[in-house]
Amino acid sequence: MTNVVDFISDFREAAPYIQYLRGKTLVVGVADSLLSGETLRTLATDLNLIAGLGVRLVVVHGSRTQINALDTVAGRSPEYYNGRRITDDDTLIHAKQACGMIRSDIEAALLTGIAHTPFRSRPLSIAGGNFVSARPLGVIDGIDMCHTGIVRKVDTEGIRSRLNDGALVLISPIGHSLSGKTFNLSMGDIAEAAAIALQAEKLVYLIEEEGIIDAQGEVWSNLSAQEARTLLDNQTVSPEQRRLLQSAVNAVENGIKRTQILSGRKNGSLIAELFTRHGVGTSIALDAFMHIREAQIGDIPEITNLIRPLEEQGVLLRRSREYLENHIGEFSVLEHDNQIYGCVALKTFPDSDAGELACLVVLPEARDSGYGERLLEHLIHQARKRHILRLFALSTHTGEWFIERGFQTASSEELPAGRLSEYLESKRRSKVFVYHIKPE
Ligand code: ARG
Repeated sequence: MTNVVDFISDFREAAPYIQYLRGKTLVVGVADSLLSGETLRTLATDLNLIAGLGVRLVVVHGSRTQINALDTVAGRSPEYYNGRRITDDDTLIHAKQACGMIRSDIEAALLTGIAHTPFRSRPLSIAGGNFVSARPLGVIDGIDMCHTGIVRKVDTEGIRSRLNDGALVLISPIGHSLSGKTFNLSMGDIAEAAAIALQAEKLVYLIEEEGIIDAQGEVWSNLSAQEARTLLDNQTVSPEQRRLLQSAVNAVENGIKRTQILSGRKNGSLIAELFTRHGVGTSIALDAFMHIREAQIGDIPEITNLIRPLEEQGVLLRRSREYLENHIGEFSVLEHDNQIYGCVALKTFPDSDAGELACLVVLPEARDSGYGERLLEHLIHQARKRHILRLFALSTHTGEWFIERGFQTASSEELPAGRLSEYLESKRRSKVFVYHIKPE
């Protein structure tokens, strides 16, 4: 192996995600332009691998490019309104043909895909059926959308029972109404509806682009539902991407933890997205990926991990578990993808306009992420809410950091009375800094 050290650290990064996904349901929507040749083969291998980890997979395929190809052969040009295909009688036939072909190619690829996974003895079984019922989209702005339909209902019982049997559920974008009519559906809609109905852990869209692209052509790595809504309002994303982004927002606002939109073209993107901390595409979640919140008793082990090394070096004062339990209300923690990367505490003094910033720590491997600044900002904001005007920070080692961020050196005499006596007692002779907070 060329680089064992890298492998070890990558594996350690991936392992928690592997554990986390076991037994969870993942709905994966795949654009049909990805479903041929080498791209299909590698995708099928990766899907097999993920299924082999115990992930319950529901795959929804698209049909857009295939239908267009069939339309073109028949000498017709595809018609759209508002980004949705108008499905007339002939196009409906093409839609059914496209689904049949694509489905068959996926099934074949999933079967050969297991050649690369030595320990799986039996091929993955693939379940299909009438899991999605449809109803007509109807007439929009005076335009009859004909056989274009929308999801009426997802048969969650049916899907769950196939998943329980260990099958991968493969859904085609065709659905029937209760009166037996057939409708052409969109992959994006079905994947969204299925994810919500099944209360899946994640919804993943595999597309040609590397994610949701911003105005500069860069991929957004993380979006909160709020940020995604702003993007949708500002019309900065292309019409195709808008629909997926809208589905992503709907999904996370309806209980799906995360929607991930990424390239299905790049070899291994799905693996990289699911099993690395930062992923490669766009992840949309209800809350920001990184956020700062009040600490809770349950966070004490992680806070201890953060501060212990610094206590041992004498940079921080030693705080016992009991101390942390009694003062947990003063602490805030910075979480990134559910892992705590930093903390800070705000001490207040009765009858004083002073407060103290204490215990500002960021995990060593994340020192350059700007987390320290985020925690400081958060603390100043909190202090302002409590009408604190002078925010003290005592430090033996990191005075420069505070000065660079607007603190000034102060004398210990300026500390509130109670804090001063403590200061004199401790004999640490920390330097004292103060930040003057402008009231709101
Ligand atoms: N691997 C993690 C997950 O699947 C994190 C992915 C983060 N992705 C991103 N584009 N920021 O949940």
